[in-house]
Amino acid sequence: MTAALQNDLYLRALNREDTERTPVWVMRQAGRYLPEYLRVRQQAGDFMSLCSNPELACEVTLQPIDRFNLDAAILFSDILTIPDAMGLGLHFETGEGPKFSNPVRTRADVEKLPVPDPTDKLRYVMDAVSTIRRELNGRVPLIGFSGSPWTLATYMVEGGGTKDFSKIKGMLFADPALLHEMLDKTAQSVISYLNAQVEAGAQSLMIFDTWGGVLSPADYREFSLRYMQQIVDGLTRKADGRKVPVVLFTKNGGQWLDIMADTGCDGLGVDWTIDLADARRKTGDRVALQGNLDPSALYGSPESIRANVKRVLDSYGEGPGHVFNLGHGIHQHVNPEHLGVMVEAVRELSQR
Ligand code: CP3
Repeated sequence: MTAALQNDLYLRALNREDTERTPVWVMRQAGRYLPEYLRVRQQAGDFMSLCSNPELACEVTLQPIDRFNLDAAILFSDILTIPDAMGLGLHFETGEGPKFSNPVRTRADVEKLPVPDPTDKLRYVMDAVSTIRRELNGRVPLIGFSGSPWTLATYMVEGGGTKDFSKIKGMLFADPALLHEMLDKTAQSVISYLNAQVEAGAQSLMIFDTWGGVLSPADYREFSLRYMQQIVDGLTRKADGRKVPVVLFTKNGGQWLDIMADTGCDGLGVDWTIDLADARRKTGDRVALQGNLDPSALYGSPESIRANVKRVLDSYGEGPGHVFNLGHGIHQHVNPEHLGVMVEAVRELSQR
């Protein structure tokens, strides 16, 4: 029997129900800006060993909840677990970010990609989810997540991070049918992975489309949004008698918030390049909005952080449906006390 949820502000806000204040959590809330995270990562050896150890992954997931009393926990893992389970050989080179030993470049590479069984090679993720759910003991809801097919494909084809997207865009323009085949397999993999996370105890889901914003509007619809639609249509939307809200986040996707809302998702992540007031007008209050303080605002003084929090809250304005967050992940050199100032300001200034 799972414990009843004591703080459900996050789930209620995503359902656009009234809440006594605006819930708050932070993308990359467990990570290198926290000294207690660095200690556990060192104990694990490296980042992937940390992800694949359910007890330690649980420990770092709870660190920011304990420190800041945030309103949601997010599974400690990575979006690149799926391509790793497909056999691409994920590794992290220090200071260089993720790399794949076996990138996907040819038709033969795409054809041999499996759709991984989430209870086999990705079992460690499901074990982390159920361990975290047990240890949270109903304090706050647990968010499960995945990358979008387009974003996963960029890493799979480039073989790591990229500045010019030359290989993935090369495939898009030279052999779009091949890219579609790859995106379809990846979307199928994401659907079974996320449904397995819900089965293991995830109470809300988020899809990170970090690189959708590098596409033209027509290509965004065809190569990114279309596969997020396939995912939204394939997800388990209810568990334990409660809705499992789904949030889509395309970084630099402010101009597409209206068509993203058309997918039937419950919420949209919003980065700081669009005002929440405009985002709200664009989506006509059909979905909840999550965001959107510029992560660099946390380099400012406590007074300026409070002022910028107020600006974000005022920009959303009256009414339900806002989840406070940064517009992208927290930077690793931020002083954790500044995040504390942000969270306190949200709690105080959003009180209704
Ligand atoms: O938000 C959380 O606290 C949950 C954990 C989480 C991580 N990665 C842990 C992580 C989540 C939700 C992600 C998502 C992720 N991973 C995305 C999408 C979100 C975004 O930021 O746009 C992407 C593109 C990745 C791929 C990835 N993983 C990169 C590019 C890197 C290296 C970047 C860097 O900051 O060095 C990672 C590694 C990674 N994933 C770290 C963490 C805490 C840092 C690894 C370390 O501890 O050394």
